Amino acid sequence: MEPREFFIEDRLERYRLNAFCNMGESGLSHFTLEEVLSLACLTWKDLSPIPMYDAPNQGSFELRSAIANLYPGVSKEEVLVTTGTGEALYLAFHLLVKPKTKLALIWPAFQALYEIPKMLGGEVIPVSYEKAFFANTWEKVQADLYVINHPHNPTGQTFPLGEWDKLLTFFRSQKKTVLFDEHYRFLPKGGGLGITGVNPGDQFYGTGSFTKCFGVTGLRVGWLIADKDFIQRARSFKDYLTHTVNPISERIALGLLTEKESFLPEIQKRVQKNIDAFTSVWQKLPKSQSFTPPSGGLVGWLQLEPGISSEGYADKLYLKTGVFVLPGSNFEMEGYIRIGFGAKEGVFLEGLTRWMECTDLI
Ligand SMILES: Cc1ncc(COP(=O)(O)O)c(C=O)c1O
Repeated sequence: MEPREFFIEDRLERYRLNAFCNMGESGLSHFTLEEVLSLACLTWKDLSPIPMYDAPNQGSFELRSAIANLYPGVSKEEVLVTTGTGEALYLAFHLLVKPKTKLALIWPAFQALYEIPKMLGGEVIPVSYEKAFFANTWEKVQADLYVINHPHNPTGQTFPLGEWDKLLTFFRSQKKTVLFDEHYRFLPKGGGLGITGVNPGDQFYGTGSFTKCFGVTGLRVGWLIADKDFIQRARSFKDYLTHTVNPISERIALGLLTEKESFLPEIQKRVQKNIDAFTSVWQKLPKSQSFTPPSGGLVGWLQLEPGISSEGYADKLYLKTGVFVLPGSNFEMEGYIRIGFGAKEGVFLEGLTRWMECTDLI
């Protein structure tokens, strides 16, 4: 079996580096290597002695320790460093999904969260985002595996604390296996570090990364958290794929995680400013119908007036203004536009102005 085309990728490849204003991507606008080294408090002298060997298969001891520290009660033996979160998801699904495995997830979704399970013969149960952030919704969903992506891509929604506690209690009492995709955990509304559902002892596994939130997607570092046996199986599977993460990426990743308190608050403020700017004007955008500001992460979901092709809208917007957004059709849900809030503030504001002033979009 082969997965279908990854619907967002064609457009991202075409526009993400050329657009005047990139609201299409789900990551913070990228830093240069020089800027990244400065954020990570590293210099060329720290990097030049790194031996260009294969890093340890499971990830370096130091990096796994830094990642484990992000999760209460998780040890470094329960961490596998992977090439992006995409690889962590690929490994986890291959170990968790068999033909006819029922997998429930918030809909719409990042395509890898259902396309890989479908390729493996799993049966996908979509749970509408309009109901998904209430615990009792999940009590009515019978599945073998629950995939909870929070903060959620593409809507930017997450669970209010009361619902979150109820949800975890329910999953625990029913001994459910859950995979939490927490890629956007470093950008909760209000700052700090976002909530996590990961707890390997309960079979609450997790995938994560900082690359989107820190503006360093090119580092290609992510991770999987699970119990020791699961991690050993995933590691053995990874030996056939990317095998190891390059040691330079690992060292920079460690520096960024160690130093995050010195730069993350600034990033959080920057993203929140873009979200606030968008929230204050979205009603003036042509043919817009509804918008709920994200409660975490870097993306939001704008509803268009009925009957408008999201693809046609996105294409025209790009042609007329240079503003790049993703159409809902790329998420298999017509009538919406996904907005990314990671652009630099000045560019984002100028993009918003051009979008508002563009009266002949349809
Ligand atoms: C929810 C979610 N999970 C996983 C990924 C994959 O991320 P990575 O670039 O770390 O492979 C993405 C990327 O957009 C995502 O949005």
